[in-house]
Amino acid sequence: MRVLTGIQSSGRPHLGNILGAIQPAIELSRDPDNDSFFFIADLHSLITIKDGNLREEYVRAIASTWLAFGFDTDRNVFWRQSRVPEHTEMAWYLNCFTPYPMLANAHSFKDKSEKLSDVNAGLFTYPVLQAADILLYDANIVPVGKDQKQHLEMTKDIAAAVNAQVGSEILVLPESRIDEKLMVIPGIDGQKMSKSYGNYLDIFVGEKDLMKVVKKILSDSTALEDPKNPDIDITYQLYSLIATDEQTAEMRGNYERGGYGYGHAKKALHEVILQKFKEPREVFDYYMNDRKALETKLEEGEEKARVVARQTISRMRQALGYGA
Ligand code: ADP
Ligand code: TRP
Repeated sequence: MRVLTGIQSSGRPHLGNILGAIQPAIELSRDPDNDSFFFIADLHSLITIKDGNLREEYVRAIASTWLAFGFDTDRNVFWRQSRVPEHTEMAWYLNCFTPYPMLANAHSFKDKSEKLSDVNAGLFTYPVLQAADILLYDANIVPVGKDQKQHLEMTKDIAAAVNAQVGSEILVLPESRIDEKLMVIPGIDGQKMSKSYGNYLDIFVGEKDLMKVVKKILSDSTALEDPKNPDIDITYQLYSLIATDEQTAEMRGNYERGGYGYGHAKKALHEVILQKFKEPREVFDYYMNDRKALETKLEEGEEKARVVARQTISRMRQALGYGA
């Protein structure tokens, strides 16, 4: 099966992105029956980020994260959306098969257009560019979060409209893979961890900076000597997502016995992050500091991606009367 997913380069990746999206996708890519196409949606990020230097930094951070968590770029395909111009060409063709009301009624457009001050046409046609990303590579499976379900339905509708018009199955209809069990990782304030709420843990920062953020995790005012309820505590929840079962059971015991403060728990969380992500932190730093090494990986991927993208575009051009 061909697995494809993308992550927008609209910030540095946080623990929620890693546990909720990056690690599960890498897990799927380890199945020898799958070939995986993972890319950085840097064109989508222009909707909200106009500063080129910032975008470039975020692209490097997202790319370094995929590599830090062991994405095998030799066996798979890894690229920047902006470096494969077929994405935008495909998006134009698909725009002309997308009914206006489908976009106007999209949940994500409605939500974001209320929140953002810059409501540009890119925000409106976002799902069409996403459909192009997927259909260009004949993807069968698209692992995404629940919020992307509607975008995947739109992708299928657009592909079906093209196929119906040209009278043959030139586009592959993809299926979304939404892991309903996958939990929403809480941020340091207990809400969903998100770049836009400023409540995230960036696991790649230096030890001291990491401690500063861990210390800010919200906790109640139960005294150190009193027993505590681990099930309502954010530090415990985050710890249990990263630590082993034994370590988690031990912390639960400490909470319930009392004489164990939130400060102790935060120190343990800080340690377990450093220990569990020791290797990813090193690999991340390596690629963030060696631009050439990262660039080489991406350029190799971009060559592979273009070969596939060109074939689809050629099918589209022929079918629509634009030559091959
Ligand atoms: P953010 O909310 O930080 O802007 P994105 O919307 O860019 O994150 O999400 C990128 C990917 O990370 C998506 O697949 C999304 O489902 C996943 N993700 C983001 N935040 C979380 C979270 N708190 N818990 C689990 N998965 C998350
Ligand atoms: N819209 C996705 C998100 O915000 C990112 C994305 C862009 C994507 N193109 C894609 C995801 C294609 C999967 C497939 O998370």
